[in-house]
Amino acid sequence: MRSLLFVPGDSPKKLDKCLASGADTLLLDLEDSVAPSAKIGARATVRDFLKSAVKEKKRPAFYVRINSLDTGLADGDLDVVLEGKPDGILLPKSNGHQDLVLLDAKITAREAIHGLPDGSTKVMVLVTETPLSVFTLGTYKGASDRLTGLSWAALDLAVAVNAETYRLENGDYTPPYQVARALGLFAAHAANVLAIDTPYLNFRDEAGLKKESEEARRDGFHGKMAIHPAQVAIINEVFTPNTEAIKRAQAIVDAFAANPGAGTIGVDGNMLDRPHLIRAEKLLATAKAAGII
Ligand code: COA
Ligand code: MG
Repeated sequence: MRSLLFVPGDSPKKLDKCLASGADTLLLDLEDSVAPSAKIGARATVRDFLKSAVKEKKRPAFYVRINSLDTGLADGDLDVVLEGKPDGILLPKSNGHQDLVLLDAKITAREAIHGLPDGSTKVMVLVTETPLSVFTLGTYKGASDRLTGLSWAALDLAVAVNAETYRLENGDYTPPYQVARALGLFAAHAANVLAIDTPYLNFRDEAGLKKESEEARRDGFHGKMAIHPAQVAIINEVFTPNTEAIKRAQAIVDAFAANPGAGTIGVDGNMLDRPHLIRAEKLLATAKAAGII
């Protein structure tokens, strides 16, 4: 899952457009991109879109971002959108293990009501959106088998703590948001799920998006969220292993295969041991999943 494009759930025009975006996943939004007055109507708009879109042969995954558990809207959101059989639910402002357990139970009930296979609806969580959530990041492992991914976020946290900004003039994150990003990354890996980078909001700045995407890949994120269709191709390219990287990984795997008993070997003047092999195998698995090898 390289690219995940947000689409406001109250916009039939954008919903129509998003299918051709090339995104691996569409995040159909009922939360922050939908005005309070449009929230109830957006549920049916998203459900009706899903009902026809899930039938497409070659299609992206569909996740619906519901409103957070403390809004009083989450149950109504789930009641309506589960009728459309989304691939998953994206929970915003998640505060840890208990929120995920609660959401899992709510989904289980709706799956039974709508005749969907038990556990078929996956979940992703948005973390570091509340100050509390920063302190529960290590609690997701084992909370629900539905969990497929975890993404960190900066904007809501900055608003919650009254920060004037979360970026410096040069575009870098300010120190508190470097911490949130790093903790979010490690939280995803600790839970053994996909680590997803937060969207780059300046959607006309392609160079900035490319740089931030490359930094995310470098650090261990599997993919990045997008807010505009024009961002998708850049993200897909950055998160698809290139020929050079595949060649390097294959050489490492081959070198270990040729030396079955060896714990460590030298290749091109570099020492390689188990972590290098694991990293090479992961890269080849990603390339395989993307259909390149
Ligand atoms: N999904 C699908 N289509 C989108 C889209 C999206 N996220 N963002 C833009 N488009 C469409 C526009 O409707 C427009 O269609 P048109 O050519 O038929 O008129 C086209 O792509 C070009 O859009 P553009 O004019 O460049 O941008 P805009 O000013 O219309 O929209 C935003 C800018 C930011 C409002 C829009 O990109 C958006 O709604 N993004 C999602 C925001 C969101 O979900 N935020 C929550 C998560 S942070
Ligand atoms: Mg938000």
